[in-house]
Amino acid sequence: MSPLRFAFILPLLSATAFAADFKKDIQPILEKNCYECHSEKAKKKKAGFVFDNLEVFKLDIADNDVAQIRPGKPAESHFLEIMVSNGKNHMPPDEQLSTSDIKKITEWISEGASFDKDAPKMAPVAAKKSLPPIMSWTNSEGKTIKAGFVRLEGENVVLRMPLNAAEVPYPLAKLSEASQKLARDCAAP
Ligand code: HEC
Repeated sequence: MSPLRFAFILPLLSATAFAADFKKDIQPILEKNCYECHSEKAKKKKAGFVFDNLEVFKLDIADNDVAQIRPGKPAESHFLEIMVSNGKNHMPPDEQLSTSDIKKITEWISEGASFDKDAPKMAPVAAKKSLPPIMSWTNSEGKTIKAGFVRLEGENVVLRMPLNAAEVPYPLAKLSEASQKLARDCAAP
């Protein structure tokens, strides 16, 4: 399916209001259709992805290169695209998720791809005005991320990627201590 058709289908899918709950609505779909090849339990990590370890899954959401899941933006989420499109890497490989399952996943991403419906939503904390557009961050594995600071949002720091200006939430806990402090300093009033 061409990206254009994909973009056309999504608004149709998200026409009705539905508050997706990851544990109740989304995890069972992944368990039934994906865990066979993508879970720690089955010891299968096709393409490096597991969806039953939520800490790992959350990190994939913050993937900077391929936006597997871009919270709030289903049309930019590769994770969803491969379930909808007929292109190569269609998932699951020889099956098609039902329209209702696709709709639930679309809604879940539209609503911010949250893993805990009941988690208190902290008010986003915006950046101080005079910050450099690109700053240097290190994650807990020592990898450097060059990105601008946008705001703190719950347990994430939202970074702006220099290449495409995409805003990507990154778990604070996965940053080095120095970078966590930097993020808090950037947000401080
Ligand atoms: C029968 C095994 C199987 C099942 C079931 C399966 N996958 Fe996959 N998945 C694969 C394989 C094999 C690859 C690697 C494909 C490749 O790299 O050519 C892959 C790759 C992927 C990728 C990376 C592809 C890319 O383009 O970056 C994602 C994301 C993914 N699968 C998600 C899912 C989701 C979501 C489901 C359930 C809806 C699912 N898969 C079900 C076998 C499976």
